[in-house]
Amino acid sequence: MCGIVGYLGKRDAYPVLIKGLKRLEYRGYDSAGVALITDQKELRVYKTKGKVSDLEAYAQDKDTSGCAGIAHTRWATHGEPNSTNAHPHISASGNLAIIHNGIIENYAVLKEGLQRNGVTFQSSTDTEVLVQLIDYIQQKRNVDLLTAVRMALRQVIGAYAIAILDKNDPNKIIAARKSSPLVVGVGEDEFFIGSDASPLIEYTDKVVYLDDNDIAIIHRGEPEAEFVNFNNEKIDHEIQTVDLNLGQIEKGGYPHFMLKEIFEQPDCLQDCMRGRINVDANNVVLSAVIDYRKELINARRIIIVACGTSWHASLIGKQLLENICQIPVEVEYASEFRYSNPVIDSSDVVIAISQSGETADTLAAIELAKQRGAFIFGICNAIGSSIPRATHTGCYIHVGPEIGVASTKAFTGQVTVLTMLALALGKARGTIKNDDYVALVKELNDIPEKMKKVLEQNDRVRDISRVFTYAHNFLYLGRGYNYPVALEGALKLKEISYIHAEGYPAAEMKHGPIALIDEEMPVVIVATQNPLYDKLMSNIQEIKARKGRVIAIVSEGDEKVKALADEYVELPHTIECLEPLLSTIPLQLLAYHIAVCKGKDVDQPRNLAKSVTVE
Ligand code: M6R
Repeated sequence: MCGIVGYLGKRDAYPVLIKGLKRLEYRGYDSAGVALITDQKELRVYKTKGKVSDLEAYAQDKDTSGCAGIAHTRWATHGEPNSTNAHPHISASGNLAIIHNGIIENYAVLKEGLQRNGVTFQSSTDTEVLVQLIDYIQQKRNVDLLTAVRMALRQVIGAYAIAILDKNDPNKIIAARKSSPLVVGVGEDEFFIGSDASPLIEYTDKVVYLDDNDIAIIHRGEPEAEFVNFNNEKIDHEIQTVDLNLGQIEKGGYPHFMLKEIFEQPDCLQDCMRGRINVDANNVVLSAVIDYRKELINARRIIIVACGTSWHASLIGKQLLENICQIPVEVEYASEFRYSNPVIDSSDVVIAISQSGETADTLAAIELAKQRGAFIFGICNAIGSSIPRATHTGCYIHVGPEIGVASTKAFTGQVTVLTMLALALGKARGTIKNDDYVALVKELNDIPEKMKKVLEQNDRVRDISRVFTYAHNFLYLGRGYNYPVALEGALKLKEISYIHAEGYPAAEMKHGPIALIDEEMPVVIVATQNPLYDKLMSNIQEIKARKGRVIAIVSEGDEKVKALADEYVELPHTIECLEPLLSTIPLQLLAYHIAVCKGKDVDQPRNLAKSVTVE
């Protein structure tokens, strides 16, 4: 949940670190800090509560020289967000500085032991325990830093990506990972460390993704980084070329990443389908389905595990896979699944969906399903992240880096991959009629163009949002494929505007939520011309009869609903199961514009972080 960045080389480290932190700020932003070492072996640490810009302001008149440094942007787990608890943390000897992403679960036991031996602590973080432990071992056993790090990490239970600077050795940084992402960038006479590749792509495209229990040692002047395990055995890592460009991680003229990512969706979906859909041949080709045909088509049952927005996409996936492939599907919150006692075996396929590929609960759910013999299929966005590496096979959604904390393009990318998966499996299992298959392939291919038409109504949605900024509560309704869209619309609004919102299947309104409706209550209802249209019309009548305010998402040209609703947004017609790819867009825009009207921090909403790598 925190972002870590490191630099060792020939440049001034500080500007590289600050730029890197800004790119990683989506991972956490309640405090930030930097540690720098000069060639004269002076260790300087600056840290402050707040964002990276606050750190910049704080360090403005300070000495920020040095060609080696580490820096951190924090999402607090242990200890409130203040400058004392901000990283880097310094060891008692004053020699070592550490940054850490993750949680040291047994920190209390380790801390007690150290305190008994006279070590005093400055902060209430789990991270300080680790740097004190390394320092203590180094002093007590008179060993080098690498040995002390290995010995300390053997005692640690939990998750970490760490980087350590030693004041006495300005030419070296040691980094390590377990269950938290870490990448080493290899430049010409310089090295970079990052929670992901975004801080380093400006300088190099050569990277090494660390595996769990790997320790990286980078030395100034050496052409390559060195990698060992906890037993000091050498590990050979292949240097990979990262396919990411600066344009993908910058705002490109948009005021917020979220708006950029909403508008990118037609292109993202094209990227997602490229090479997988061939309209001329009326075909969907997913290599994972070809390579693992037997495991997938013979699945007795599919269980989808995910969190948040990815869980909402999973609910759509359930309907797609059940309708098209006739396979029973269950959808589980990964956080619940991991602590349940699921009855699964080798005849089950578990699909894990995650934008970041790092969500701790989803990773734990995968491990549990693997132990029980299930075949695991991953649907992820972040290339090289932990989940794709933990699964047997899978598909990337290829929508490019998503930086806004509120997920948008990842959702439509996930739904697109689930649709292609259902089509490929349905064809292989013979559960979809050829005409339906051909029509769906063609229509899916046309969705990006139809998305553009929805996006053209951005100004209309902005105007609607201005009317409703007063509201303290919103209700979102939908049915069938659009029920998960209602849940997703409500989540978007909650996350970035802090307005309470609930998503419901429209027919459930009469079983309770209808009591909430009065002239103050906006109800967003996806009421397109699908088989349940008449029922949705009745729901709108019920809301109007109680003076509720209706914002309807309607099929193009539907004058009936337009006349009934207070506000409406029109969607091009499409096949029912593809509607979420269109109907979700006005809800993303509505949440965005309401948050902007209310002056909220759209890309970095309070208390949230982009990837939740802790429980
Ligand atoms: O990276 P993941 O897809 O695994 O993340 C899951 C959730 O944490 C994520 O979708 C979260 O709910 C977003 N902030 C939603 O906008």
